[in-house]
Amino acid sequence: MSTTAPELLRVHELHAKAVEGDNDILRGFSLTVREGEVHAIMGPNGSGKSTLANTLLASPAYEVTSGTVVYKGDDISDVSTTERAKRGIFLGFQYPQEISGVSVLQFLRQALSARKGIDLSILELRLAAMDWMKRLGMDSKFVDRHLNQGFSGGEKKRNEIMQMAMLEPDLAILDETDSGLDIDALRIVAKGIREVRAARPQLSIVLITHYQRLLDEVKPDFVHVLVDGRIVATGGMELAERLEKSGYDSFRSERV
Ligand SMILES: Nc1ncnc2c1ncn2[C@@H]1O[C@H](COP(=O)(O)OP(=O)(O)OP(=O)(O)O)[C@@H](O)[C@H]1O
Ligand SMILES: [Mg+2]
Repeated sequence: MSTTAPELLRVHELHAKAVEGDNDILRGFSLTVREGEVHAIMGPNGSGKSTLANTLLASPAYEVTSGTVVYKGDDISDVSTTERAKRGIFLGFQYPQEISGVSVLQFLRQALSARKGIDLSILELRLAAMDWMKRLGMDSKFVDRHLNQGFSGGEKKRNEIMQMAMLEPDLAILDETDSGLDIDALRIVAKGIREVRAARPQLSIVLITHYQRLLDEVKPDFVHVLVDGRIVATGGMELAERLEKSGYDSFRSERV
């Protein structure tokens, strides 16, 4: 990946806490993402990975106590979740709840209208969705099911990837940590990311994961290790391999 690609996201010395909590969970988190780059973030349970994802999407459950988030050149600290989505930031599992009465296709239509201001007809949307489902190896009946109702883990992943493909974000934040991915779901995510990147090489991804296997297939440009709310090491796949061999202990001691 060329280092001359334009900067998309620059997080500087971010400190953030849960609104309900007392102490900062993110404690000096800094990261720069350029167009088209894939950054993997690995870290022990409780190190602040999901907090990071939620904070980047301005979840009301978290508050930034200091530091800056610059996206496409603008400080977005005061920008709402809806507006961030509109500007092209996508959070996987944004809507994990079941929404009864709303089909996958209807939901996509609303999200697309909010994101891009275009109102596709259901027929146009269905055709576009069919195209992606084919590429992602999905059953075409899927789009008429009610959102997340009785979806298996793998189906939720497929839906997440389809949303990412169709909403055409500029920055996707995928938190794969808590979802108990089995081997098939892992493949779906990896294949999905490859397909979407092939279609839109300028897409940048922050991929939060515990699975070296996922990284083997996705081949991130950078691997970062997050401990106690900040990045303590940055490198390539060799970092993920080191983690696989010796765990997080050796990284914990690198924290100053
Ligand atoms: N809303 C909240 N209220 C109180 N504490 C919270 C809240 N969200 C996160 N925390 C705490 O912040 C710490 C970091 O949580 P977070 O979910 O970000 O970790 P994580 O790195 O995603 O972990 P995992 O690998 O288990 O997914 C944990 O100790 C957690 O209990
Ligand atoms: Mg998490």
